[in-house]
Amino acid sequence: MAIAKGLLFPNKKQIQIKLLQWFKKNKRDLPWRKTDDPYSIWVSEIMLQQTQVTTVIPYYKNFLKSFPTIRHLAKANLSKVLKVWEGLGYYSRARNLHGASKIVLKHFHGKIPATLKDLLGLPGIGRSTAGAILSFAFQKEASILDGNAKRVLSRLFAVSGNPEKRKTEQLLWKISESLIPKGYSNPFNQALMDLGAMICTPKGPLCPRCPLHRFCKGSTSGKPERFPSKTIKRKTPHIRAVCPVIHKDGKVLLNQRPPKGLLGGLWEFPNWKIEGKQRSRLRLRLKNDIKKEMGLNVKVNESIGMFRQTYSHFKITLDVFTCEAFEWNSNGKWVPIPELHLFPMSRIHRRIAESISN
Ligand code: ADE
Repeated sequence: MAIAKGLLFPNKKQIQIKLLQWFKKNKRDLPWRKTDDPYSIWVSEIMLQQTQVTTVIPYYKNFLKSFPTIRHLAKANLSKVLKVWEGLGYYSRARNLHGASKIVLKHFHGKIPATLKDLLGLPGIGRSTAGAILSFAFQKEASILDGNAKRVLSRLFAVSGNPEKRKTEQLLWKISESLIPKGYSNPFNQALMDLGAMICTPKGPLCPRCPLHRFCKGSTSGKPERFPSKTIKRKTPHIRAVCPVIHKDGKVLLNQRPPKGLLGGLWEFPNWKIEGKQRSRLRLRLKNDIKKEMGLNVKVNESIGMFRQTYSHFKITLDVFTCEAFEWNSNGKWVPIPELHLFPMSRIHRRIAESISN
């Protein structure tokens, strides 16, 4: 803890200067660095929470084209927002962004708040995202601790605790806060992010090219990759489900997921989990499931195949069958096949939709 009190910070000034000089020469050219509009910066920070820069860039541009101001976003319906977000994943981010835009419009006159307390009160904004918005959009003295900053600081000061433990995290926050040079939080925080993305990478860090090499305790230990310490990954569960594509006269049946929770608000083909022993007589079971759950009599036809998708916490395999309905009466929504692209879907269901559209 002595680090946090500043006792072991003899190189603080030099670290700040070296990092800022390096950033000036090497910074990445990113679209959200060309604006000082707090709304655009907020959108970028939410998109970047669990997603790589290169994936985010086209989504960021398209999102701002679709919703150029916070007012446009707040007035849009959620389905449109999810459609524009489609493919980026972690859809609760889109729901929170949309929800937060309404709060900002109602309670902050449409202006993104510029205090830590108010930002933390908005859905989807945690301490690091708030710090990024405050420093990048408002030039406030605020610190960040995203994945990149965590890795850089853990290595620089050889912080060996589990970064998911509160105590270690608090120490890293203290380091991040006390390193910020007065008046330079914006470039300094961006520099931490860029150093983590370009030099101090998770695997094979480029230590000889690092501006902080000579101050880095992780590097002098000979094994910088030891920091931050790895957390034990649990085996991801594998879910199997049957999934009918139910046709009638050029239309297919979709369900909308409940607004809250996993993939909330997205549309999908109906599907039901298959538990261990239920794999036999799948078609008969499917026919019965459809009758029971959707109130619909159908004929189960051929298999379209297995569709697989990996999410952060589980894997799913959908065993997809074409079915034909004998009646319209159902609690789902009948959608003409050429209109499927209008409905926001997760990636696996979009792939199914595309496979029946061609
Ligand atoms: N990761 C999170 N925020 C970022 C930003 N503004 N630039 C680059 N990477 C980031």
